[in-house]
Amino acid sequence: MTTPPPTFEAPPEPTTSQFKTPPPSSKGLTPPGLKHSLPFYAFKPWVKLGSPILLFEYLLKTYGNIAWYRFMGTPIVFINDPEYIREILVTQAANFVKERTVRRMKVLLGEGLITSDDPIHMRQRKIAAPAFHRQRIAAYGDQIVACAAHQRDSWQKESSSGQQIDISAASMKLSLEIVARTLFNTEVTADIRSINDEVNTIMDLYNFIVAFPKIESFIHLPIPGIMRFRRSKARLDAVVDRIIHEHREAAARGEPDRGDLLSMLLASKYESDDATQQTGMSDEQVRDEVLTIFLAGYETVANGLAWTWYLLSQNPDIEDKLHTELNTVLGTGTNQRLPTLADYPALRYTEQIFAESMRLYPPAWAMGRMSTKPVTLGPYTIPAGAHFFFSQYIMGRDPQYFPDPLRFDPDRFTPENKAIRAKFTYFPFGGGSRQCIGESFAWMEGVFSIATLAQRWRMTYLGSAPPEVQAKITLRPRNPLMMQLIPR
Ligand code: HEM
Repeated sequence: MTTPPPTFEAPPEPTTSQFKTPPPSSKGLTPPGLKHSLPFYAFKPWVKLGSPILLFEYLLKTYGNIAWYRFMGTPIVFINDPEYIREILVTQAANFVKERTVRRMKVLLGEGLITSDDPIHMRQRKIAAPAFHRQRIAAYGDQIVACAAHQRDSWQKESSSGQQIDISAASMKLSLEIVARTLFNTEVTADIRSINDEVNTIMDLYNFIVAFPKIESFIHLPIPGIMRFRRSKARLDAVVDRIIHEHREAAARGEPDRGDLLSMLLASKYESDDATQQTGMSDEQVRDEVLTIFLAGYETVANGLAWTWYLLSQNPDIEDKLHTELNTVLGTGTNQRLPTLADYPALRYTEQIFAESMRLYPPAWAMGRMSTKPVTLGPYTIPAGAHFFFSQYIMGRDPQYFPDPLRFDPDRFTPENKAIRAKFTYFPFGGGSRQCIGESFAWMEGVFSIATLAQRWRMTYLGSAPPEVQAKITLRPRNPLMMQLIPR
């Protein structure tokens, strides 16, 4: 849930920009784009409530790699050029903040890593970084494999009756269990169910909530959807607060670090610039971060996995190559064993499959920023207060960057092919100082989950048509992804 939905269903809040017509060309060119404000085109087939992908596709086809439009007075720029994306995320990052839908997420995530701006973000990132360090993440490998093995064994029992499953729901279940265990430690599994229920309620209501302009002012009103959101958020906060309290008490009793992410967050200290003081996070900050990490790390990986199983079901030759790698690295028959951390570097084709799956179906399918100063991109000058969107989904399917784009070909991600590709043509985890902090975790979770499940099972897609995508906070299948499980 790291991705803002660049929707246009609700008017944006007023921005610092006052202009209603394209910016003056004296300071630079205006990007090409729509002549009128977006509602003028309301009956065009490419303007559909809740389907911004259609609009972006249209803009790319009609105007090229940079296109401009307005909505309720706010200038919006859609970008599909890797150099311009680098400018926004890296080179000129200081001139941008997160755009409005992300800022509205503060009603849920407070000042956590996703929603906060500098200087709070910079400080929180420094505190949280050790918990996501590559070596630390390595310790979670066994837990990921254990959760995946548990799922594949539960299928074992059920499949005797010819089981069909919704792999999308099953992947959510797996990913939730993984993030809950690694974040809080296995001793709190009893809480996972209640966290799961509240998270699901919140996610269902979430798109409705962030579509509200000025949601911060409405959040206390007795509007049914918002009341349900508030109740679930309060219950979730209570569970997380209790877990934080228990962790703090255990640390105070001198118990050793439990090895989970939360313990790391609680133990992390931030050194002041002059190195004279060390501060940790307040309970409220920890809670915001825990919720942020929980929600950011759950749906994204789950969708990445669900789409991978679909793509494998459609590409038996690639599935065969995957099985060959698994047999070689992890053995066969009675010699078959579960993956361990030592196997990770050898599971290269498995990783390429996950990478290629996230090209075609990137869980974070678009990102956005708002300019705080006038910005120059190539020959174009764009004023402060403009919104900028770029889409991993659109770019990943663009033949300019990926020849024969709809072909599922994990060899696009061999080290040699990766080395010759421009960086911001493939950016499933974003970039710059806001790059996904959980990236290494996500790769490990993806690779180990695919390996563990595919050791035992293959899947046949049961739908009569290719699944439709739904671009919400993450890119989900619109309908259940029904699969027939076939033992290997
Ligand atoms: C396939 C899985 C994942 C994808 C595709 C993904 C994608 C992203 C993207 C694109 C961003 C940047 C958003 C922006 O700059 O606007 C981001 C940020 C973030 N992600 Fe992930 N993510 C994934 C998994 C995870 C996991 C497993 C965790 C934690 C366990 C996590 C935690 C975060 C956090 C905390 C941020 C905010 C970082 C910051 O601003 O400093 N993500 N993610």
